Amino acid sequence: MMALFVSLFFVSSVRAEAPAPRLANVVILATGGTIAGTGATSTTTVGYTAATVGVQSLIKAVPELAKVANVTGEQVFQIASENMSNEHWLILAKRVNALLAQPNVDGIVITHGTDTLEETAYFLDLVVKSRKPVVLVGAMRPSTALSADGPINLYNSVLLAASPDAVGKGVLVAMNDQIQAAREVTKTNTSTLDSFRTPELGMLGYIQGSKPFFYRASTRKHTVDTEFDVSALSALPAVDIVYGHANVGPVAVDAFVAAGDKGIIHAGVGDGSLASKVVPALKSARQKGVIIVRASRVGQGILARNGEANDDELDFVVADTLNAQKARILLMLALTKTNSTREIQRMFYTY
Ligand code: SIN
Repeated sequence: MMALFVSLFFVSSVRAEAPAPRLANVVILATGGTIAGTGATSTTTVGYTAATVGVQSLIKAVPELAKVANVTGEQVFQIASENMSNEHWLILAKRVNALLAQPNVDGIVITHGTDTLEETAYFLDLVVKSRKPVVLVGAMRPSTALSADGPINLYNSVLLAASPDAVGKGVLVAMNDQIQAAREVTKTNTSTLDSFRTPELGMLGYIQGSKPFFYRASTRKHTVDTEFDVSALSALPAVDIVYGHANVGPVAVDAFVAAGDKGIIHAGVGDGSLASKVVPALKSARQKGVIIVRASRVGQGILARNGEANDDELDFVVADTLNAQKARILLMLALTKTNSTREIQRMFYTY
């Protein structure tokens, strides 16, 4: 009995002396959006003002963050994400790369408006030069709303950015207790909490009980394995999107070419079909050196090369499974490296 008591005492004193595990250092870069939004009343879930709450207040509102990481915050921008621009992306990417190069930074969380969150996530997925976790997070309800989703989303994103399980997974999106890959996630609903989805290919995992659980990984190259480097860039080549629809004509294509675009994403109907009134405008754009990428407005599926158009003959590129807004990002970055349609097509099958 005495021996048992002594050994229990010994075990418990050894346990008491074990050092606490080191908390990861996570930097929150705040850019605005609904997660930092405020409404007139607690039931205001539409018609509120995005991007009004500062990063220190966001952090203070979730004291539980201190249990999962040493958190610091920086206000990088304070905007609604419909105003996110190429210039914002370059500033953000450079800041992320500078922070992740520091040995005392283990991961980054970026708070962001949900409207263009998937675009910023994919841009960073292609240009961040680190395997450390980068997690984008937003909220569908403003901070003042009943059952606001921002605090739990922020908590989940910080613990994900602090987790060794998230290392090397590419840029992640943490919303609604789910982990999504930057390349494939998209906003699917104007206002519901489960808006962020990866239809067909599926999310990467869940966050439950303060732990991330991964079940799959994106197979496309990202972060340290891409050929893109924004460190010396102060602008990106102009690329715009033309939307396919019944009765479409050449006006938008001609206008973008006249404005000096270097590339056009054609978000065609179905498998990227081109209306006969648009084909001459696209051909003429290509003859002037503009790169044409055929994408689809459908949002799912592989865009078949030489399917609904003879891409070899037209010298067009196809977007593979990227939606039009992400195809625009990859084409801009591709144009920083090459004007060869063969090379650009390779990139669309690689990233
Ligand atoms: C925005 O994208 O900035 C507004 C909408 C949102 O964050 O949900």
